[in-house]
Formats: sequence, structure tokens, C-alpha cells
Amino acid sequence: MKIFVDTGKIEEIKKANDMGVICGVTTNPSLIAKEGGRPQEEILKEIASIVDGPISGEVKATTVDAEGMIKEGREIAALHPNMVVKIPMTAEGLKAVKVLSSEGIKTNVTLIFTANQAILAANAGATYVSPFLGRLDDISQAGIELIRTIAEIFDIYGYNCEIIAASVRNPIHVTDCALAGAHIATIPYKVIEQMTHHPLTDQGIEKFQKDYIAVFGK
Ligand code: E4P
Repeated sequence: MKIFVDTGKIEEIKKANDMGVICGVTTNPSLIAKEGGRPQEEILKEIASIVDGPISGEVKATTVDAEGMIKEGREIAALHPNMVVKIPMTAEGLKAVKVLSSEGIKTNVTLIFTANQAILAANAGATYVSPFLGRLDDISQAGIELIRTIAEIFDIYGYNCEIIAASVRNPIHVTDCALAGAHIATIPYKVIEQMTHHPLTDQGIEKFQKDYIAVFGK
């Protein structure tokens, strides 16, 4: 399973990229809004100069018509060849996906909460679908079952559309997504950092250092 980092924070993107574990980045309007009013285009361009892989930038949260999304989608795509246009799962959004994908522009249909929404997005020509695992868990519905179901359906029909497991909140989610057949998990930096740890790894490092220093010194 591939890993993307889910953030608009340049420092986090650099750290995850330096670790060598990510091959893409996703952002959303809430993440961009946390970056002190910096324009999205500026942030996306900076991300593209750091990570050589798909970078999802979403159309404006206030743009709800297909025409507007198509216009903004073309602008986002023009920023860099690695740009992916993130479009919300609505009927207007699907119309925009159809047009953008016919122009060779990559799209990521976001806010997917049912398998039927994923089927619609794949048929419209989406490059990626983003089912939101954590937000389903938040309302006591098993988010992982959605990932598993979409993976099974895409496999049966050979859809040329990748599943980005989104709204990942903890390391257990990541393992579950891998087992459920997600192609990609987009993960907050904090969770990537948590994934590096195990108490026995940390204790082991400490013991190796202690034993080594006792004989050889620093
Ligand atoms: C996905 O692309 C979204 O940016 C993200 O995963 C949403 O996560 P949240 O539900 O933790 O806000």
C-alpha cells in the first residue's frame, strides 16, 4: 500500500518526504485554511517542489457548480504536472470529473461515504476515490468495511481507479486499510510518526546504547 501525507504544512511534508515513506500529498480546504491565509496555489506549488508524486488540491469549498469546478480544476492542473484536482462527491462534481478526465486531468473524488458513491465516481472517470474512514467511525459506522467493499467491487470489475483511504486517525487504521485493499492511505504526519514507534524498539535502542557505551564509551 502506498502512503500519502494528508497535510498543508510544508514542514510536515518535508519531514515525511525525507523519511522516504510517502509518494504523494493530499490537502483539503480545512487543512489549507490552517496555513495562515496563504493562497492555495502558492502552497500547492511549494509542495510540488518537494514531493515528486500526485498532489491533491481541492476546488474552492464555495464552488458548487460543475462549470466553476471545471474552471478551477483546469487552473489547479496548470500549476504543475503532478497536480490532482480534488472534487467533492456531488452530481455537479461528477459532471466536472467527466470533463476534466476527458482532458487528461487527474481527479480525486472526495467525501465518499458509500460504495455507490465510489462506483459513480469511477464511472465518471475519477483517477482516485477518497472514502473517509475516521468520520464514519465517528458516527459509529465501521469505516473499514467501506474500504473493504469498495476494494472488492473495484477488483471484480477491474475499475481503473485507485482507492485513497482518507480520514485516517491512528496506526491501527493504517494496518486495517492495507488489509482491506486500499491502494493508498493518506495519513496525517502525526500518525506516520506514531507508526515508527514500538515500546520494545525504543527500549531496545536504549539498551544497545547502554551496553555499547559501557564497553566502548561514547
Ligand atoms: C482526505 O483527503 C482528507 O483530507 C482527510 O483525510 C480528512 O480527514 P479528517 O476526517 O481527519 O478531517
